[in-house]
Amino acid sequence: MERWFSRITMFWMLFLGEVQSQDWTKCSTGCTCDGNKMSVTCNGLKNVPNDIQKDAKELRLGFNSLSKLSPTAFHSLTSLTLLSLDGNKLQTLPAEVFDQLKNLETLWVTDNKLQALPVGVFDHLVSLDKLVLNDNQLKYLPPKIFDSLTKLTWLNLSRNKLQSLPHGVFDKLTELKTLYLSTNQLRSVPDKAFDKLSKLETIILADNDWDCESCDILYLSRWIRENPQKVKASGGRVEDPDGVTCQGTMESVNKITKENTFQAGCPTTTQQMATSPASTTTTETMTVREKQTKPRMKIFQEELFSKASIFFCQVIFTQHVSLVVIHILAEIPLLHIVCVVRKP
Ligand SMILES: *[C@@H]1O[C@H](CO)[C@@H](O)[C@H](O)[C@H]1NC(C)=O
Repeated sequence: MERWFSRITMFWMLFLGEVQSQDWTKCSTGCTCDGNKMSVTCNGLKNVPNDIQKDAKELRLGFNSLSKLSPTAFHSLTSLTLLSLDGNKLQTLPAEVFDQLKNLETLWVTDNKLQALPVGVFDHLVSLDKLVLNDNQLKYLPPKIFDSLTKLTWLNLSRNKLQSLPHGVFDKLTELKTLYLSTNQLRSVPDKAFDKLSKLETIILADNDWDCESCDILYLSRWIRENPQKVKASGGRVEDPDGVTCQGTMESVNKITKENTFQAGCPTTTQQMATSPASTTTTETMTVREKQTKPRMKIFQEELFSKASIFFCQVIFTQHVSLVVIHILAEIPLLHIVCVVRKP
C-alpha cells in the first residue's frame, strides 16, 4: 500500500514537472519567453538555464557571459530550430553539445573566442541551413568538420585566424550558396577546394595572406578567373574578382598564371597533386607541399635554434666550462643527447 502510494506520488511529480517545463506562462529567471513563437531570450546569464521549455523552437543566448557550455546544455531541447550564442566568451565547444539538435536550422556563434572546434561537433546537425562562425579565433578546422551539413546554404568563417583549410573540407556542402572566408590568414586553398560547390552564388575571399609566390595559388587564381561573378566584395553584394589580392604585392590573384608568373616552372609534385588526387604519391607530395609553403619566419627560428644549440654544445665539449658544470648539465638527459648528437 505504502509502496503504491509512493509510486503514484512519484508519477505525479514527474508528470507535473513535465507539464511545468512546457508552461509558456512561466519563464526561466533572466529570460523572456514568447509562447506564440515558442521563443526564449536570455540576458545577463553565466550559465544556460536548465528549465527552458522542452518544446522551445528558438533559443537566443546572445550577449551573455557564457564562457563554458555543459556538454548536455541543449540535450533536452530537441525542437530547436534556431540557437544563438553570439557575443559570449566561449573558447571551446564540448564535442557532443549539439548532438540532439536534429531540427536545428540556424546556429550563430559569432563574436566569441573559439580557438578550435572539436572533431565531430556538427555531425548531428543534419537540418542545418545557416552556420555563422565569424569573429572568432579559429586557426584551423578539423578535417570533415562540415561533412554532415548537406543542407547548409550559408557558412560564415570571416574574421578568424585560419591559416589553411583541410583538403576537401567543403566537399559535402553541395547546397551551399554563400561562403565567407574573408579576413583570415589563408595563403592558398587546397586543390579542388570549391569544385563540389555547384550551387555557390557568393564567395568572399578578400583580406587574406594569399601567397602568389607559391604555385599552390594556381588553383584559386584559375577558379576566380572561371567564376568572376561569384566573387564579391566584403558586403557580399558587389562583384569584385580583382579585389582578391596577393599578400605583399596587392596584385590581383586572378592575374597569376603558371605561364606568366612561374617561368621557372612549378614543381612536378604540385602538378601531380592537381592531376592524381588519390594516388599513392599523395602523402609524399603533401610533404613537399608543406615544405614549400613553410613560413619563412619558422625556418629562421629553426635555424637560429640549431645554431644556438651547436654553439652551446661546442662550449661544453671544448672544456671552456669547468668539469663540475659539465657533470651537472649531463644530468639533464635531453641536453646530453642533443650534445652527443651534435658533438662537434
Ligand atoms: C559574416 O561575417 C562578416 C565579417 O565579420 C560580417 O560582416 C557579416 O555580417 C557576417 N554575415 C553573416 C550574416 O553571416
